[in-house]
Amino acid sequence: MQPDLLSIEELSDPQSYPYALLQLADPSLEMIRQYLQEGTCYVAKLQEEIIGVIVLMPIAPSTIEIKNIAITEAFQQKGFGKQLLHFAERITKQLGNEKLVIGTGNSSIAQLALYQKAGFEIEAIKKNFFLENYHEPIIENGIVCKHLIVLAKYLN
Ligand code: COA
Repeated sequence: MQPDLLSIEELSDPQSYPYALLQLADPSLEMIRQYLQEGTCYVAKLQEEIIGVIVLMPIAPSTIEIKNIAITEAFQQKGFGKQLLHFAERITKQLGNEKLVIGTGNSSIAQLALYQKAGFEIEAIKKNFFLENYHEPIIENGIVCKHLIVLAKYLN
């Protein structure tokens, strides 16, 4: 069954950033605040209820990075994350860029599956990124999250 279509809108007022949702994807409020200064935050609504968020930021010529992507737990696994990825691709192209990048942890099995199914390919591994940049240890799926896996998709 096709999921309902999300309505996605840019947030311009920092007071309205959905921090609880942003923290589902990134436990560091410090990092979130940093990239929200330069990035653009979009929320995804289903019948006026915010159920998702995505933050996009230019990181290099012609390149946009998805700094944060999250769907409220009750609405996960229903295809909405994929809709947000498609939205990111559309915006990236509309703004004249050709490459979309996303980073995730070595322990984020479902996310690695989702991004690769959506056409992203592993481009780099930043060894020990999470050990060096996060104060608290992160463990997912019984795996210590140490390394940042950078995936990229070239849009044409
Ligand atoms: N192995 C293989 N595929 C898996 C999987 C696994 N262990 N776990 C999930 N998937 C696949 C699903 O099968 C589905 O693909 P399919 O439709 O081709 O079958 C896909 O991943 C999930 O798609 P979707 O339903 O669109 O994702 P979602 O709405 O749950 O959103 C996240 C994905 C990651 C945004 C969401 O789960 C979330 O907010 N997680 C918490 C925050 C987070 O981790 N953010 C990303 C940080 S890098």
